[in-house]
Formats: sequence, structure tokens, C-alpha cells
Amino acid sequence: MCSVIGYVGKNMSRPFVMEGLSRLEYRGYDSAGFACLSPQDNQMLYAKAIGRLENLTEQFNQHPIDGFLGIGHTRWSTHGVPSAENAHPQFDCQKTISIVHNGIIENHHELREQLQDVGHVFHSQTDTETIAHLFESLLISHNTFKSAVIDLVNHLDGAYAFLALAQQRSDTMVVVRRRSPLCIGIGDAEMFVASDVLAFADKTNKVIFLPDESFALVKKDIIELYDFTGKPLVPQVQEVQVNWHNSQKQGFEHYMLKEIYEQKNAIYSTVKFLQALDETIFDHLGLSLEELKNVERIHLLGCGTSWHAGLIAKFFFEQICLIPTTVHLASEFRYNHFFAEPNALYILISQSGETADTLEALRLINSMNAKTIALTNVASSTMVREAEGFLLTQAGHEIAVASTKAFSTQVAALYWFAHFMAYAKHIINHQQLIAAQDDLLIAAELLENSIENYKTVIAQELAPRYACSKKAIFLGRHVSYPIAQEAALKLKEISYIFAQTYPAGELKHGPLALIDNETPVFLFSHIDPLIYQKLVANAQEVKARGGHIILFAFEGQRELIALADTVFLFPKIKPLLGPLAMTGVIQFFVYHIAKELDRPIDKPRNLAKSVTVE
Ligand code: M6R
Repeated sequence: MCSVIGYVGKNMSRPFVMEGLSRLEYRGYDSAGFACLSPQDNQMLYAKAIGRLENLTEQFNQHPIDGFLGIGHTRWSTHGVPSAENAHPQFDCQKTISIVHNGIIENHHELREQLQDVGHVFHSQTDTETIAHLFESLLISHNTFKSAVIDLVNHLDGAYAFLALAQQRSDTMVVVRRRSPLCIGIGDAEMFVASDVLAFADKTNKVIFLPDESFALVKKDIIELYDFTGKPLVPQVQEVQVNWHNSQKQGFEHYMLKEIYEQKNAIYSTVKFLQALDETIFDHLGLSLEELKNVERIHLLGCGTSWHAGLIAKFFFEQICLIPTTVHLASEFRYNHFFAEPNALYILISQSGETADTLEALRLINSMNAKTIALTNVASSTMVREAEGFLLTQAGHEIAVASTKAFSTQVAALYWFAHFMAYAKHIINHQQLIAAQDDLLIAAELLENSIENYKTVIAQELAPRYACSKKAIFLGRHVSYPIAQEAALKLKEISYIFAQTYPAGELKHGPLALIDNETPVFLFSHIDPLIYQKLVANAQEVKARGGHIILFAFEGQRELIALADTVFLFPKIKPLLGPLAMTGVIQFFVYHIAKELDRPIDKPRNLAKSVTVE
């Protein structure tokens, strides 16, 4: 979503703020802005620009503003179109206060009306501007700065993280968090504030993750932390190791390409990490062995790609652990009836651990006293803190908006966990658990080798050919259906080519009417002989209507290969790991299609990484 960055300290703030914004620009890139208090006369200085951060940087050539207290923002628009007026920082009437904000103020209409009635003049369509005007009026009506902040936060509904500068307190930054991530890095006579620790990874490893519904008054060498009633809280300082160097492109043209190539190692690290947990796994899971054995029902929740990982994992839990498993879109979950079930386990899947839809589903499930585990890539995330237990993937920081290595490590972790549960329940023995781990490593190997096999033909021949398609159809069956969904999402997200996915058996119930020779049909095969035969029949239906098939199949699947126009072949592997083996080639193929179309691959239009608004 949006990112907010702040600095207060012994140095000028702009270099850190701009560097932090560039590191977090993947969270939103509709506009960018910076504000600081002038060291000379305490005036509010600011600059804003539509679009990418570089447009903001250019403005500093003409107006090199800076100060010891500065805040910055990159925006993913929710309220109001991307424009200079709607870019953050937002101000009060007199420009004595500036605000940068991530999240949504749900009661902003009401507040805006009240403020306009008493004479405040608004200049933007944003919900954020209401914070500035409200703070302006509360600073007048309150005796102390702190009591004005308490009143301010108690007027605001919604999920938000915001930073405020006020002329009235030129040494203090106001830092507020309600349900959106925010952290403070503690330096030597300087404080760094950001939506993500990555922003200050090489500056300090001492971090305070603001508790939910808290605010801090931050000076260069002191942090006063309070809850929303004004009660002082003791800041919990954690040591966090984040390596910014590993998060750079390292010679790759795009983060997405780098992250595609990192998958084999990421899967290895994830499997080895989970394996090494040994008995400590129960502390991570927040479950005893007995509780794990007793699980009779599993629910998997996630959004987007994480949801697809859940759809694949349903087959793991049902086939390997023999536990009925339901997969839910986290964004829909809260609006359905909640059925309390004994011995149910809810696994919330989220790369970032911050996705608002998944987080709200987690909170609802927690309130129903059901067992929750967060499966995430970020140990310091809100979901890890709020779920009863957690399982961590070891993908490393994922920067490209399109998820790649996070997805494959989620699938690997869920495959491993299904076997671990089956072992706990005495469904499989220890040797079988070890064999499953080896199978995952083999799948990771195949994922990478297949990219090597096809990279030249994809880049030189296939991507240029298929980049001309206006739309595409994706088909799969059983566990190959969710990988078809994931492939289609990747294509839509980074190439903007329209794609529609169907379970192959549904074709004849309507979508067959869409088949023509201009719309490629991506067909994902399955190793199971019965499912394979059904897929052959579906491919024949497509060919009989003049369709064009791009096939992802396994060696020896001759009937299917004979029907295809373009074929990607994979060595046979454990049937449920077929999607994992195919993942690299799928991503590499759609990456090159998007490259042919000259799309901004790491930052596709209208999107942002880490969707922290519902
Ligand atoms: O951080 P999360 O895994 O919770 O994010 C969920 C989705 O927003 C995310 O997977 C999204 O669909 C990806 N950009 C797809 O590539």
C-alpha cells in the first residue's frame, strides 16, 4: 500500500527519507511527497510529485529543501485520483501541520463536514487531509500537545498509520498506529520511522514495532509511547536482522527475475529451516503434539497468490493427512457465517503478514477462540504477533509486486507441514517424512532446471509470439487447476493481458464458446493417469474447435503432447508437487511476455505490494 517514512535526529532528514521511500516504493507508486520543518525559521517546507519517486527527486534540484525533522510518502491511491493535490503530505489550513498516512479513515466524510462547517478549507479529496485539519483545531482547544493527540486518535475510525509534523513542536514527530504496520528504528541521536524495517535496515537493528492502537511522540533521543487513552507504555525494543544488500537487484534487470531465480534456494532454506525446528516447532505453532494430533478440520485462508497456495495445499492436507480442508478467500471470510467446530485449525497464509483482509479474518477467528497459525515470510509481521502460532517461510525479502518465491515457499512449507501432521498422527512414518523433504528438494531442482531448459526459446521465440495475444484461457484439473489460476493471475498482473481460468471439465458447460484460433489456451497437466485422461479429452474439445494449446505436461504424456501447439515438458515427480516443478517456467514465460510489451514489471499499474487496506 502506501509507505510512510520519517526521520528526526542530528542529521538532515531528506537523504534518509528519500532512500527509505525508494526501498519501499514497491508498496505504492501513484505519487510521492516530502515535508520538513526549516531549520532556519521553522516553516513547513514540502514537495510533491505525481508518479514515481524520481519525479519528486527532480524537484529537489530546483528547491533543495531539508530539515532535521522530515516525513515522506509514496501513495497507492484509495481516496481521490493520483494528483498533486491528493499526494501526501496533506496540510491544515495554515500549513503548520503536515501528515503522511497509510490506511483509510473510515469516518472522514463526517469529519470533513464538521470541519468545513467551522471554516476549514480542504484542498484534496483525501481522507488524510481530515487528520491535518482536525489536529489543527484540537491543538487550539487543548492545553497540551499530548492531550490533543489523544483526542485526535480517538476521533479517527478505520485502519491507519500516520506521521505528523507540527510547527508547534519542532523537535517532535507524532507517530500513530491503528491496525496498519509501523516501526521505529533507534539510532544514535536519531530515530527512523517507517512502514517496514527494510527502510532503515542498514542504519540500526534496534526496532520498536508499535503496538496496535498506540502513538509515540518521537524526539531524536527519546520515544514516549502511549496507548489511545494516554496511558504510558514501555517500548519493547527488538533486535531485527534485515539485510538490505540481499534485497537489491544484484545485476538482474528486474526484481521479479531475480526472485524467480532465487526460488530453488528459498525452497531449500524453507525446508531445512522447518526440518531443523525439531521439537521447538510446537512453540512456533502454539500447539502441543496432542492438540496437533487432534486436529480434525483445516481451514486455509489467504488472498491472491497466497490463496492459490492454499488451494494447492488443500490437496496436501486431504490426501496426506486425511483431514477435510476448506480454502477461503480471506477478503470474503468475514461476511460468511462462522461455524464453530471442535478441533479445527485455521492457517492464515500471507507473504507479508500484513494484508488487511487476511488480518481481519485472523482477528475474527481469534475472537471465536479457534486455533490460528500464520504462515508468513516476515517474522516481525502483525500476523505473527496476533496469531496463536506461526510457521515461517524463508524466501527472503520479496520486492516485486508479483509474488514468485513467496508462493513457491508457501507451497513447499504447506507440503512439509502436511507431512509433519501426518507423521504426528502416525499416518506416515519417519522415513516417509524424510522422503517428503527430499521430494521437495527435487521439485526445487526441477523448478530451476526447467527454466534453464526453456529460457532461450521463451525469450527469443515464444514470448514475442504470445505477447500479441489479446486474451488467454487457462485450464487445469485437480491440483493443476490452482496452478492454472496462479499462472493466469501472474499474466494479468504484469502483462495486462486478459486471462480467464476454468477447471477443464467446465469447458463444455459454457466457456467452450470462447475458443477460437486467436486465444491461446494454457493447459496444465497432471501426473495421475485418470485425471490425465480427462485432460486429454478436454484438449480434444479445444482442438476440435480450432483452439491453440500451450501445454505444460510431464514426460511421456504423448496423447496430450500430440494435441498441443507449444509444449513445456517436465520430468515426472510426485503428483502433488507437479505445480511446484512447473512454477519457474510459468513465471519466466509471463515475465518475458510482459517484457516484450514493455510493462513496468516490478511495479504494475494500479497495484502495490502489501495491501494493508480492506
Ligand atoms: O502478502 P500477502 O501474501 O498476504 O498478499 C496477498 C496478495 O495481495 C498477493 O499475493 C498478490 O495477489 C500478489 N501480488 C500476486 O502476485
